[in-house]
Amino acid sequence: MEWTWESLRAQMEGCTRCPLCERRQHIVFGEGNPQAKVLLVGEGPGEVEDKEGRPFVGPAGQLLDRMLASIGLDRNGVYIANIVKCRPPQNRVPLPQEVEACLPFLRAQVRLLRPAIIVALGGTAAKVILHDEDLRITRERGRWHSVKGVELLATYHPSFLLRSPERKREAWEDLKALRARMELMGLLEPPEAEGV
Ligand code: URA
Repeated sequence: MEWTWESLRAQMEGCTRCPLCERRQHIVFGEGNPQAKVLLVGEGPGEVEDKEGRPFVGPAGQLLDRMLASIGLDRNGVYIANIVKCRPPQNRVPLPQEVEACLPFLRAQVRLLRPAIIVALGGTAAKVILHDEDLRITRERGRWHSVKGVELLATYHPSFLLRSPERKREAWEDLKALRARMELMGLLEPPEAEGV
């Protein structure tokens, strides 16, 4: 099926493919720049995201904004989505059958966006995208992979960093590596000419 952003959103809004639909207030479709070359993938909506229907707008989102700003990016320069689009109860990790049911939506988003780089935020996203149930994010973060021609970097989830601030230094290394790779791939705006 060939989707447009609009038809994909309509399909998602009516989705009953898994029991997470029963308690949702809103689906969290994802948002950002549809021309972006960098896609950030989180785990799933939390309480605030479920209420507002937007990704990463709670405390973890505020940290994510600061992380992006630290390398000169903002939400207008990337696209942000999640592995599952409806909030798991008590913010538990999504179950394998919930992930399976929801993955076609993320795949469709990747086909529409055609990112050059995907950043997996946290172990759940990294495990799903790299098809590795045993992946340890503490070991895998900061490593680059190629998945179907797309560069993939895994790093810590901002919620984890809120609980374990001592890991922020490693996340900062990952962000700098992201910025460097974007520069290398010509994905950043050239600096504005001075004095013209
Ligand atoms: N955590 C996530 O993984 N995604 C969100 O959208 C919010 C919090």
